[in-house]
Amino acid sequence: MSIILIGFMGAGKSTVAKLLSNDFIDLDKMIEQQIEMPISTFFDLFGEDDFRQVEQEVFEAAIHMDFVIATGGGIVENTGNLDILGFQNQVVYLKSDFDSLWQRILKDDKNQRPLAKDKEFARKLFEKRTPVYEKVADLVIAVENKQPDKIAQEIRDWQ
Ligand code: S3P
Repeated sequence: MSIILIGFMGAGKSTVAKLLSNDFIDLDKMIEQQIEMPISTFFDLFGEDDFRQVEQEVFEAAIHMDFVIATGGGIVENTGNLDILGFQNQVVYLKSDFDSLWQRILKDDKNQRPLAKDKEFARKLFEKRTPVYEKVADLVIAVENKQPDKIAQEIRDWQ
């Protein structure tokens, strides 16, 4: 079964996925290949609902590949994805407090995140999603002040 990394924007899911295996999928990158444009442009043109639909299709395809999967922070926004996550037994939640995540989002200015334009909006999303991440996770790792290779090692030790 795939290891699936979940967590809010800025948690380091893609970085940790890369460290865990050469066979990893960055779901956001896979979506961008499919839609042939940056996610932020897709949001502007078509809106979040259409994005969630593409995200679910790509996630359903990725899950069959048995790779390490770094999901987008909104993977838990969609009941279809929650059903898929419920059937998996290696769902790893990279958990952090909001302020640390926000600092990382601000630093990562190459990545234009459409749902992280406003801090208070993002905080509300974080508060709404946190219990859902907890619920679907098989392993929860606190990632504040931890180097990505240490996080990857914790996941390997748990497997
Ligand atoms: C989103 C998170 C992003 C990306 C999209 C929506 C979200 O991924 O999928 O901008 O709803 O939290 P990251 O968590 O990799 O930033």
